[in-house]
Amino acid sequence: MGHFAAVWDSQLALETIKDLNGVDQIVLRNPQGASARVSLHGGQVISWRNERGEELLFASSKSILKPPKAMRGGIPICFPQFGNCDSLEQHGFAKNKLWAVDDDPPPLPANDSNGKSFVNLLFKPSDEDLKFWPHNFEFRLRVSLGIDGNLTLISRIRNVNGKPFSFSFGYHSYLSVSDISEVRIEGLETMDYFDNLLKKERFTEQGDAITFESEIDRVYLSSPNCIAVLDHERKRTYVIRKEGLPDVVVWNPWEKKSKAMSDLGDDEYKQMLCVDGAAIEKPIALKPGEEWTGRLEIAVVPSKFLQ
Ligand code: BG6
Repeated sequence: MGHFAAVWDSQLALETIKDLNGVDQIVLRNPQGASARVSLHGGQVISWRNERGEELLFASSKSILKPPKAMRGGIPICFPQFGNCDSLEQHGFAKNKLWAVDDDPPPLPANDSNGKSFVNLLFKPSDEDLKFWPHNFEFRLRVSLGIDGNLTLISRIRNVNGKPFSFSFGYHSYLSVSDISEVRIEGLETMDYFDNLLKKERFTEQGDAITFESEIDRVYLSSPNCIAVLDHERKRTYVIRKEGLPDVVVWNPWEKKSKAMSDLGDDEYKQMLCVDGAAIEKPIALKPGEEWTGRLEIAVVPSKFLQ
């Protein structure tokens, strides 16, 4: 490994390739062989692999890989709203648009590039976007892959409008799991949540940890900044750390809804679980010139370290 690190060429850390539609994808690599792939379509992370080449994010085999639709899987960015809204598409338009590589971004408040392979992306609304959501903004996204293989997404949204605006947000993270019935989430015990399956009624989580035996679609409110998703069969734990993102969405469509979704295989719900760092209950308000930052870091560790 020492030798490998010595010959590691930083040029290998970043590569740009084109997808079937001619859209650029940026591949990040670390010296240990982990990788992440980010599409300029939506700024979506579409793959994240560990040093053994195992995929850590779910991607549906039925995904419709044709813009403007976002791929079913990876981490679609939900902005300027998470969920439904009368005038905008579900989960906002940012995930369905073409982003650009940001060659000269303003520096991040804290140094976040040490030893990491990263790419900076930029999304600005077009005139057409502004017709549907008349608030001008600059959305900067940094996706980085650490030496330890951790995946980090930092979103910075700046109001470049003459007037205040507010938005909700979510990193719609499709985690790849062995079998949904073998999975549990720790860190959301005793939290309040809105249940989207029960007209957004508010409940308090009673169980010790969240386990799965039917469809789930909830927004946990004001949650801790670190939660864990344990996969017993794979003995793998996703540790999710977030900042600026008080809420956590937990979603699995289960059997009936999967069958009704054209871009998800009938049984694929068993291999996925969405656990999203989000800001939903209290929309983020930005005055002209103000900027918001939302940070998500996902690490994968062997479960034995946590049990
Ligand atoms: C979840 C929502 O986060 O995303 C669900 O809570 C929704 O209600 C799901 O069905 C998938 O949304 P979409 O737009 O990607 O099909």
